[in-house]
Amino acid sequence: MGSVSKTNKGNPMLNIDDWEENLKQRYPEPEMPVKNKEEFRNYVDSDRAKTVREFYRLNHKLQTYDFVSKKEEEFLKFNKKEMSLWEAVDFLNTLVDDSDPDIDLDQLQHLLQTSEAIRADGHPDWFVLTGFLHDIGKVLCLFGEPQWAVVGDTFPVGCKFSNKIVYPEFFKENPDSKDERYNTHYGIYTPKCGLDQVKMSWGHDEYLYQIMKNYLPEPALYIIRYHSFYAQHRENAYTHLMNKKDIEMFEWVKKFNPYDLYTKAPKKPNSKQLKPYYEDLVSKYLPATLKF
Ligand SMILES: [Fe+2]
Ligand SMILES: [Fe+2]
Repeated sequence: MGSVSKTNKGNPMLNIDDWEENLKQRYPEPEMPVKNKEEFRNYVDSDRAKTVREFYRLNHKLQTYDFVSKKEEEFLKFNKKEMSLWEAVDFLNTLVDDSDPDIDLDQLQHLLQTSEAIRADGHPDWFVLTGFLHDIGKVLCLFGEPQWAVVGDTFPVGCKFSNKIVYPEFFKENPDSKDERYNTHYGIYTPKCGLDQVKMSWGHDEYLYQIMKNYLPEPALYIIRYHSFYAQHRENAYTHLMNKKDIEMFEWVKKFNPYDLYTKAPKKPNSKQLKPYYEDLVSKYLPATLKF
């Protein structure tokens, strides 16, 4: 295990995916025996949990309406890099993590485990493809973005932060929570306006959605765009902003979540063997190159 001292202020976590351990504590796998109190306390006190907490403190303090607007302006020009999906996967896989390589899977392995579990359950091919590419927006890290602007739970900005979001106390440090335009139940939005009208905190979900929006079926786009929106797909805290279509489409987001969260096993998928299948799938839906 690497030591906490290796991290720096903007990037408290050793591994970009360490926040998912916190997710699994919040939302344990239904069929699995619940971890006993002792184990839970060990997690809460661990160095890893402390870095995750610090990560959320930064995220909740700094993800403001203005911040998101600036990031949209910067990244939705798509002038950083042009890559095929395969190049993007290889690029993402250069994300080095400082944690124990025996426990942690690399990004490609997480993608393949997610998509292979979806395929094994007999779902349509676009769903398998969505599993395979859902985290590619994490290339933001490789463009120099801090962890708190790439991963973690996402939530609407421009209206009141829900108490159902993890570590809600940290929103006290967010200037939007004192801004009268943004700190009411609806904020700048109107009842049932539809999530398409709602700005979400900036991260890998929204970024990849914007890259993929012309190529994939609608449920796939909802999965990509809202898979980290736990305050809604697990807690239903923002139903008041959703329209009928959002509510229908969130059934897919909910269906996807267990594949994302619970398929991380130490068993590594055979990427060489699987590649031809995924090459066909990618070329069925996506152009030869994508703009990042
Ligand atoms: Fe993700
Ligand atoms: Fe994921």
